[in-house]
Amino acid sequence: MLICVPNVLSKQDVADFRRIMDASAWEDGRSTAGAQSALVKRNEQLPPDGEAARKLGNRIISALTANPRFLSAAVPQHIFPPLFNRYTAAAGHRFGIHVDNAVRGDRLTGLRIRTDLSVTLFLSEPEEYDGGELVIEDLYGSHEVKLPAGDLVLYPASSLHMVTPVTRGARVASFFWLQSMIRDAHARSMIFDLDTAIQALAERLGRDDPETVKLTGIYHNLIRYWAEV
Ligand code: NI
Repeated sequence: MLICVPNVLSKQDVADFRRIMDASAWEDGRSTAGAQSALVKRNEQLPPDGEAARKLGNRIISALTANPRFLSAAVPQHIFPPLFNRYTAAAGHRFGIHVDNAVRGDRLTGLRIRTDLSVTLFLSEPEEYDGGELVIEDLYGSHEVKLPAGDLVLYPASSLHMVTPVTRGARVASFFWLQSMIRDAHARSMIFDLDTAIQALAERLGRDDPETVKLTGIYHNLIRYWAEV
């Protein structure tokens, strides 16, 4: 299941991120690619252990932990330190079809996670570049994703995906992985759907409506049943 989360960062935050990123040194994106991905990955990224990536990454994690839709969709247990990449038309950047590594380790923190979900947080507006669609394949076909700056998409890390060649301008994004407390993707998806329905009911009937309260209890008990921590 693909889930988009709008306005994770404000436009002001995005402008601030872009200013800091523009002033930073970039390196070949293959430094963090697995052996298979390295064959098809052509882009640049901020050095993962560098100050810019760590500072901006922490700001993203703060924004995520305050975002109810993200928390409900991901039920995160561990979030990998966010990375940052750039695809430019002049360099013919692209990232061919691949699956992300199942396990990711972070050198600085020693964190090792199972990658349940992949996340792309867009930091360029769609008008700034042509191409650069994130294409994700699932049971229902392939989906092209290009979101406004500040929005993110969550998708199963087990999906085949690619970034199409950028043919004009530059595409800047943050990308990272997370381990969810709910390992089972179907359970996670149903729990998210239930929460979305409860939020809509609460709007109509009020949070203190007895049926809303009961359903909220069921939602929490489903998480208790499924969560592995
Ligand atoms: Ni990938």
